[in-house]
Amino acid sequence: MVYLNGNFIEKNQAYVSVMDRGFLFGDGIYEVFPVYNKKIIGLDSHLKRLQDGLDAINIKNPHSKDEWTKLIHKVISFDSIHLNQAVYLQISRGSDENRKHTYNELKPTVYIQSSAIKPRKKSMLLDGMSAITREDIRWLKSNTKATSLLANTLYAQEAKSNGAEEAILYRDGIVTEASSSNVFIAKNNCIYTHPKSPMILPGITREKAIECAKTNDISVKESSFTTQQLMDADEVWITSSTREIVPITSIDGSQISNGRAGPIWSIVYDEYQSLKS
Ligand code: PDD
Repeated sequence: MVYLNGNFIEKNQAYVSVMDRGFLFGDGIYEVFPVYNKKIIGLDSHLKRLQDGLDAINIKNPHSKDEWTKLIHKVISFDSIHLNQAVYLQISRGSDENRKHTYNELKPTVYIQSSAIKPRKKSMLLDGMSAITREDIRWLKSNTKATSLLANTLYAQEAKSNGAEEAILYRDGIVTEASSSNVFIAKNNCIYTHPKSPMILPGITREKAIECAKTNDISVKESSFTTQQLMDADEVWITSSTREIVPITSIDGSQISNGRAGPIWSIVYDEYQSLKS
């Protein structure tokens, strides 16, 4: 069962109009909430980012924080089998009578679904994953979690075709983020990640990873690093709500450090796991 515009219905009965601007223009925003044992990690932060996204594209928030919380919990409750889920929530500007670039105020289309996630066990991550690098040619409003994700999906597909976990993006030699995750490096016992800016999505897992590092007295610098520093790092990780914190040990076919997940990743990973209970 899913939620669509006021109704809880079977997913295969959930349809939106071909005039929906989400369909025609990718005119909408979305959120992904990780859920463990019915507990949503970072609910307030996700709802705050949702509000920021709506403000950025001039859509009035159709629900209060309380209403969103109830709707999300209801959708989670439909799946009693899977303890770990990812809730996908999308708001598009709505449907107009004709296709035109400009818009009047419309009734937003609201869709919520939840699906099972299976984060990999720590033992599966110790060898790390591989990544490719690509030039970041996306628009300079990447801090808005927009549904128009064509560049991101093409990068992700390229990573997949190369047998890689992710495509790490760079702009003018500076690592920004990855196709659907944020990027961290560790060097000399300090971790670095691109500062919040219009060039990256302010990931909630990024925020949590920073908190987890600080809890363990690990130095954190929200400052950018070059592709050369990426390759020379002691550790590289990516973070996302659905993938958590994943070590990257090979980039563009070159091994990073000793080719194994590092000790700082291990500490931050363990601390993140403790947020689930
Ligand atoms: N993607 N950067 C990009 C471009 C992303 O798409 C995502 C998340 C992140 C990490 O954000 P968070 O930690 O809040 O999940 C960074 C989601 C999971 C997706 O599109 O499915």
